[in-house]
Amino acid sequence: MTYLDDRIWISELPDHVGETVRLAGWVYNRRSSGKIQFILLRDGSSRVQCVVSPDDVGDEKFAELDRVTMESSVWVRGTVREDKRAPSGVEVTIHDFGIIALAAEYPIQKKDHGVDFLLDHRHLWLRSARQETVMRVRSTAEEAVHDFFRERGYLRVDAPIFTPAACEGTTTLFETDYFGDSAYLSQSGQLYNEAAAAALGRVYCFGPTFRAEKSKTRRHANEFWQVEPEAAFMDLDGCIELAEGLICRMVTDVLEKRRPELDSLERDVSKLENVEPPFPRITYAEALELLSEKGITVDDKEGFGAEDETVLGESFDKPVVVHRYPHWCKAFYMKRDPDDDELTLSMDIIAPEGYGEIVGGSQREDDYETLLKRIDEHNLPPESLEWYLDLRRYGAAPSSGFGMGLDRTVAWITGVKHIRETLPFPRLLNRIYP
Ligand code: 4AD
Ligand code: MG
Repeated sequence: MTYLDDRIWISELPDHVGETVRLAGWVYNRRSSGKIQFILLRDGSSRVQCVVSPDDVGDEKFAELDRVTMESSVWVRGTVREDKRAPSGVEVTIHDFGIIALAAEYPIQKKDHGVDFLLDHRHLWLRSARQETVMRVRSTAEEAVHDFFRERGYLRVDAPIFTPAACEGTTTLFETDYFGDSAYLSQSGQLYNEAAAAALGRVYCFGPTFRAEKSKTRRHANEFWQVEPEAAFMDLDGCIELAEGLICRMVTDVLEKRRPELDSLERDVSKLENVEPPFPRITYAEALELLSEKGITVDDKEGFGAEDETVLGESFDKPVVVHRYPHWCKAFYMKRDPDDDELTLSMDIIAPEGYGEIVGGSQREDDYETLLKRIDEHNLPPESLEWYLDLRRYGAAPSSGFGMGLDRTVAWITGVKHIRETLPFPRLLNRIYP
């Protein structure tokens, strides 16, 4: 029998108090106090303090510990003891241990490293307690997304990543060669979602999307994960309710299942406990007024900038829904407001605390002639959108949906300042390594 056969996870230790168990993991920290050594062991499931004394392991074995560098992999055998002061509630007294692989001098030390250094070492940085914690919250938030949609009868239908045309404007396309033709990395699965919704009613896709945005802000990544539901026979109001429900579900599940993680990230959870439907809803025009009362004039040709979104988000203690944006700042596929042709049946949801837009969605233009006109107005190639026009030729139906940026939403929920910490391997402006 090797250590691989009988080891348990550190997270399982509380169920084994008083027993002798085997663990395998990495040495996160090692320090000595008099004749005793303390090893902080991590195995990905949790961390635990292990106590080693020459009385328990013998002098020769004890001396071997001096070779054990930070991040070396080891197995240990020991007795699990209750320890009320320990975060995990337990401690392990070691009887025996073995070195699996000694680590070379570990580049990430307990000092402050610059962020470029950390990003260059993202493959190792991920092992740090804080990064591990953010990944746990991200995973739980993702599970909440799937649970939410499954419970509401939505089917997951994956959209392609190689696409023949733009969905969200031609200026942010990543172009690649596709057997001699141009293809673009998907900016959004929406157009395919609309086809899938006409086949299956309620669908969502969830995957990486790509934007060649030259922006270096704390909210932008060039590869980000988007969850995009689309439902046939749903209008803008239905779409807003769905987005509210999704956001609340993600927040509630994280609060319920990841409370210790939020605490260790020093997240002010009272801000999250507040997040319940309905969210405040204001029109774009009302948002402009609100900003102007605060002395901010929005550039008429640009729409909201990042700063404007921050101010809007900070004006409410829950995410705020801004709806009916003018058509000139939105995509070609959005249906116009029947009450005002200047406006679209669109909505963005802006997170509080300066995290900006986390959701963008709309009701879709379902009239063939109008859609054809929009494609022309936006200078998009109609040939590559023929299939999309087919959806209006063959049984057009009202359809609505939205996209939520998972990474940005997780940044807000965890309270981490920059989106780069929410992505396991962030793709940022001028950064594709590691
Ligand atoms: O508002 P956007 O561009 O909407 C769409 O792509 C629609 N086609 C979605 C749909 O209706 N199915 O993007 C949706 C969301 C934003 O609200 C934001 O949360 C996120 O995607 N997002 C980004 N996240 C990180 N980095 C970027 N560069 C992002 N761009 C958009
Ligand atoms: Mg948007």
